Amino acid sequence: MNQEKDRKVLVIGGAGYIGSVLISHLLNGQYSVVVLDKLLYDNQKSLAEFELNNSFSFIQGDFCDNSKLDNSMDGVTDVVLLASLVGDPLCKKYSDEAKRINEEGSINLIKRLNRFALDKFVFLSTCSNYGLRDTDEPADEQAELNPKSLYAETKVNVEQYLINNQININYSWTVLRSATAFGLSPRMRFDLTISEFTRELALDRELLVYDENTWRPYCHVDDISDAIINVLEAPKKIVSGEIFNVGCNGENHTKKGIVDIIIAQLKSGKVKYEKGGRDPRNYKVNFDKISKVLKFQTNHTVKNAVEELIEKIKTGSFVDIESDKNFYGNYFLNL
Ligand SMILES: NC(=O)c1ccc[n+]([C@@H]2O[C@H](COP(=O)([O-])OP(=O)(O)OC[C@H]3O[C@@H](n4cnc5c(N)ncnc54)[C@H](O)[C@@H]3O)[C@@H](O)[C@H]2O)c1
Repeated sequence: MNQEKDRKVLVIGGAGYIGSVLISHLLNGQYSVVVLDKLLYDNQKSLAEFELNNSFSFIQGDFCDNSKLDNSMDGVTDVVLLASLVGDPLCKKYSDEAKRINEEGSINLIKRLNRFALDKFVFLSTCSNYGLRDTDEPADEQAELNPKSLYAETKVNVEQYLINNQININYSWTVLRSATAFGLSPRMRFDLTISEFTRELALDRELLVYDENTWRPYCHVDDISDAIINVLEAPKKIVSGEIFNVGCNGENHTKKGIVDIIIAQLKSGKVKYEKGGRDPRNYKVNFDKISKVLKFQTNHTVKNAVEELIEKIKTGSFVDIESDKNFYGNYFLNL
């Protein structure tokens, strides 16, 4: 381990969309990083920029495999669990794997981490847990959970396990319920609302949008990474056993609101709105707790990120997207 860095973070799922951004933030701070990732999307190239860094190491494998996990824990002070099957369509398509990884594997990990002298554990959950709300009132962390997909159900079940087993866990754990992510990443995902809508419209294709008046919160990958580091650096007494929504109140948008932001920048765009989509989610989220308790503020807006992404698309980035489709979205698993 690098002598100057006194904390070593195991980022499980670090080769993914959020993970490959988080690694930069950690390495820029006082952290060594080890990544354990199964590379389900042939996504090793998202780690290329870190390979020569002395404070970085990579282990390929499944975190549900105890021996792989144990081998990854050498000198580790903190663990961030990002690995799961992410997204409703993917979890529906691979439902057995989703239960095995997202729920059983995560709970097994939580139990097994008791064997190591761990400081903090951060579990990435999702605001999708709020699902469908029958009120316009933004959901805070106390709001009733109403998961509408297997993906969100597995996240809720892991949260419940943590809450119900406080007494059996010998390290500090924190749940971060993140808003839907946006922003550039070494493992760019174009299966997420903002990047998908922006790309379709920037390429002058007709965009089909279902249920345009449904709400959801959004948060930039850099801001999500900062929130994770904020938890790692906070006094345990304010984060241990706590759940925080991650995002900011001003970035709750309807799908139509997102389309309007993109078209305002492109000056034109073809959109077809339809009712009766398969995704029933409709929720606004309140982010007061993370702002008050952790003094966390986001630095990025949807508007600025859309501008940046349009520029990238128009200047020929992501040219391999059709030939390397699965790198750019969670469609199929390389099992
Ligand atoms: N992207 C979002 O909009 C969003 C929003 C809220 C919460 N989250 C949460 O953040 C986390 C990361 O999301 P992401 O968008 O970076 O996902 P991602 O799919 O881009 O990355 C997940 C990574 O985990 C790895 N992985 C999956 N199963 C594994 C296993 N069994 N063993 C080892 N590695 C495994 C994959 O290979 C991949 O590199 C997830 O837990 C997700 O639920 C994401």
